[in-house]
Amino acid sequence: MSPSLVEEVQELKRRRNAVILAHNYQLGEIQDVADHVGDSLYLSRMAMGTDAKVIVFSGVLFMAETAKILNPEKTVLLPDLEAGCSLSDSITADQLRAWKAEHPGAVVVSYVNTSAEVKAESDYCCTSSNALDIVRRIPESTEVLFLPDMFLGDYVKRKIGRKNMHLWAGDCFVHTRMRPDTVRRMRAEHPGAELVAHPECGCSTEVLPDVDRVLSTDGMMRYANETRSPEVLIATEIGILHRMRKVNTTTNFLPLSPEAVCPFMKKNTLEKLRNSLRDMKFQIEVPAPTIVKARRALERMVAE
Ligand code: 13P
Ligand code: SF4
Repeated sequence: MSPSLVEEVQELKRRRNAVILAHNYQLGEIQDVADHVGDSLYLSRMAMGTDAKVIVFSGVLFMAETAKILNPEKTVLLPDLEAGCSLSDSITADQLRAWKAEHPGAVVVSYVNTSAEVKAESDYCCTSSNALDIVRRIPESTEVLFLPDMFLGDYVKRKIGRKNMHLWAGDCFVHTRMRPDTVRRMRAEHPGAELVAHPECGCSTEVLPDVDRVLSTDGMMRYANETRSPEVLIATEIGILHRMRKVNTTTNFLPLSPEAVCPFMKKNTLEKLRNSLRDMKFQIEVPAPTIVKARRALERMVAE
């Protein structure tokens, strides 16, 4: 009998001395075969702490680049090079340089969903898990340029009452589609359900008071572990429901929007993961000067 894809992945992983990191939005079958599943911050920390020689990132390009910047000596693989991110593409390093020139002296806080070149132009990186803490560290009198997600930026700005914080007008097309009217309709259909939303959501600004919790994907996982609510509406990419339903079988977790599927995250399949380990492709490279500059902002992110 020929080995199953899962067996092949496990055998190749052993042979290559590899670790498989998978984001919470990956297909269930990939999550199940991964060594670590989590949000951007957790996976960056796992990439930094691993003894493995090869890191296979089942996620998107900016995540694999982040792993490479934090581990320049290791081989980092992304199973499909088309696994990009529209949010990350919403700002280039040239655009950031021009924005910085308009605000001399400002501190740049970049969401981790950015290219390596944009990180190299940044003072701090943050994720949805620690954006509030990172911005709180910056002296009150210093202007902040926050990019590229305007919904996360607006959430941080409101939450800490920061006036001198400028937001780049980028968004994630998957999360933006979850609008206040989606919330109102689903609330009416599920009157007893709690609502938990990712801060990238287009609904988070207008209906913030109506959202029970605004959390990163790992924050959502901790909540899923603990909640006793019979029904919960989840406003983020639907891949996370696989893990939630595994860790808590008594709560009914429902997507706020079943169409919230990230086509970039879903470029990864079990077959491509196998091919990636078998053929050692696609290797992520970041130029050394970019690594040196981007690392400082990323180290501040993982340390927070
Ligand atoms: P987190 O997993 O860090 O919450 O971010 C979600 C995301 O945008 C991944 O693309
Ligand atoms: Fe980018 Fe949005 Fe997909 Fe995350 S869900 S990878 S932010 S496009």
